[in-house]
Amino acid sequence: LDIENQVIYGDSSQILKQASAESVDLVITSPPYYQLRNYEIGDDALGNEIDPDKYVKRLTDFIATDVYRILKPHGTLYLNLCNRYYSNNGFQRGYNKRYKRKTHQHFNKIPTLPAKVDNFRQYKQLIKIPSMVCESLQRINLLLRNELIWVKGSFNGNNGTPNEAHDRFMVKSEEYIFLFRKSPKKYYYNKEFEKFLRLGYFPGFQLCGSVVLCPKVKFGQHQASFPESLVAPLVLLSSKPNDLVLDPYGGSGTVATVAKKLGRRYCSIEKSRKFHHISQQRVASTRTLHMSI
Ligand SMILES: C[S@@+](CC[C@H](N)C(=O)[O-])C[C@H]1O[C@@H](n2cnc3c(N)ncnc32)[C@H](O)[C@@H]1O
Repeated sequence: LDIENQVIYGDSSQILKQASAESVDLVITSPPYYQLRNYEIGDDALGNEIDPDKYVKRLTDFIATDVYRILKPHGTLYLNLCNRYYSNNGFQRGYNKRYKRKTHQHFNKIPTLPAKVDNFRQYKQLIKIPSMVCESLQRINLLLRNELIWVKGSFNGNNGTPNEAHDRFMVKSEEYIFLFRKSPKKYYYNKEFEKFLRLGYFPGFQLCGSVVLCPKVKFGQHQASFPESLVAPLVLLSSKPNDLVLDPYGGSGTVATVAKKLGRRYCSIEKSRKFHHISQQRVASTRTLHMSI
């Protein structure tokens, strides 16, 4: 299957099995989070698992087999994940026992989880999904080279995810972006561009150590889209013009849009018809800037 410069409708695991091995230079992706959003792509969609271990296993199996296979030996993977609470289908168990849907894309179900299965799986427990996924991938076949902390907001108290809980901080505004490689020796990384980034001239991407301050923006109806200003520096750091950049959880098509803009080949895969349509139109209306970096 030719995935080059395509916005594909389908299940990324099935699509990638048909793509050529070692054909992709760079993967940038944000999988559906554990128990957060309902993308209306079926009850067995990734993220719907009640058991966090099952979610971690499904996601790591996909990355360690399907993503690993299509990545070139010198390829890079940026994986975006965040911590989650063991709660109820996207609902938080608030002090007043009211269960509110946060947005139309959150689950609209009566909570079904038992309050406590064991010490780990109990309400209010912070589940460090990123650590679990990273450790599994490291143990299977990938090399973890960086942990970037993405701060989605500013220090004025806005832009985080507000919460009614009374016994902890009420806003969470950080996520993680992990840089993985297949090989410790073969890789492409534009160190000169990193020096440029650190001068602070790139609006919308401020680096302090390995913390990135980048305000979250929504694209159209997608509640979880990447800001373009987060993706563009990653593309410029870890790919060359004409390289192939893939997002297997394409959503609104931000990664493909940015890759096309920056003169890279792209592929975006999306299982929701609605978001596939939105991303296809977005990428089609994007023009390429011919760049030498
Ligand atoms: C967190 S969003 C990604 C948003 C994206 N980074 C953007 O900028 O718009 C995850 C997306 O993965 C899609 N998805 C979930 N499971 C999928 C699968 N098996 N194959 C392809 N897409 C899938 C969901 O429909 C959702 O749009």
